[in-house]
Amino acid sequence: MKILVTGGAGFIGSHIVDSYIELGHSVVVVDDLSTGFEENLNPRAIFYKIDIRDFEGLKTLFEREKPEVVNHHAAQIDVRKSLQDFIFDADVNIMGSLNLLRLSLEYRVKKFIFASTGGAIYGEPLYLPVNEKHPAFPLSAYGAAKLAVETYLDVLYKNFSLPYISFRYANVYGPRQNPLGEAGVVAIFTNKMMKGESPTIFGDGEQTRDFVYVKDVVSVNIIALETNKVGVYNIGTSKRTSVNEVFRKIKNMLGTDIQPIYGEERKGEVKHIALDASLAERELGWRPLYDLDTGLSETINFYRK
Ligand SMILES: NC(=O)c1ccc[n+]([C@@H]2O[C@H](COP(=O)([O-])OP(=O)(O)OC[C@H]3O[C@@H](n4cnc5c(N)ncnc54)[C@H](O)[C@@H]3O)[C@@H](O)[C@H]2O)c1
Repeated sequence: MKILVTGGAGFIGSHIVDSYIELGHSVVVVDDLSTGFEENLNPRAIFYKIDIRDFEGLKTLFEREKPEVVNHHAAQIDVRKSLQDFIFDADVNIMGSLNLLRLSLEYRVKKFIFASTGGAIYGEPLYLPVNEKHPAFPLSAYGAAKLAVETYLDVLYKNFSLPYISFRYANVYGPRQNPLGEAGVVAIFTNKMMKGESPTIFGDGEQTRDFVYVKDVVSVNIIALETNKVGVYNIGTSKRTSVNEVFRKIKNMLGTDIQPIYGEERKGEVKHIALDASLAERELGWRPLYDLDTGLSETINFYRK
């Protein structure tokens, strides 16, 4: 299949590109390299440095490449920035996505795969772990934009029969996550501690998250190519781990005695979240295979190298 992966120079997108190429698909990558890196790019992918806000640029690409599947991972991923500049966030995360959807309809794409969020779409949960039926009242513009795109996906499916699958990821971690970015505690903590510096924990560190390893996220993106299911799926482990606990685990694996610095709690972030992914297990046959210790140790090995 010919697959367009947006955000293919980023953390999650680049792993998906590698696995699609490994499986023999031909892959076209769109990325503006704003938070992605050229060295993440698979040399066997065709690369277009395009901003997804640039409709004409994307149109030229669709005309030339005629992708059969669009896997959309490009996004403005900074929750804080989404509140500081929600117009910019909406421009990239809503309008950019709509550009891709418009072209997907025009060029008769067979399936649209979307990277949504489970961590930022539900708001502060009424129960845990949350399933897809939990009300979605995001606390951030980032979450609001992801929810808006999911709504469009459903509307376009109902009206124009564009099949879609949207994955609401938990906190994804693993090799290639940008340790200098705003998101991704595992990468940030590991990188800081390896340099002998104290990482900052925002709030008291007792907030809990559902950490899912990037290889498990890749596997569901492979299933997405094969399934004929349409809809929204949580992708997580249903387990909660506190940020303090993640810090302790990484600290022990690195064998350091560095202590964290505690900073002010961050706006727009929930206190506790874990995702019930039993729908993905029932309908897609997916479940996470990596526990946190295994994923962390693979990730730390990557950063050591
Ligand atoms: N990492 C997580 O825990 C997590 C959780 C939930 C959802 N997601 C979603 O998964 C996707 C990938 O996230 P990631 O963690 O790999 O982040 P990332 O920053 O590594 O990847 C995003 C990629 O998109 C590119 N990009 C950003 N704006 C662009 C634009 N306007 N035009 C073209 N390319 C652009 C960046 O250069 C980068 O390569 C995003 O949609 C994100 O919202 C991630």
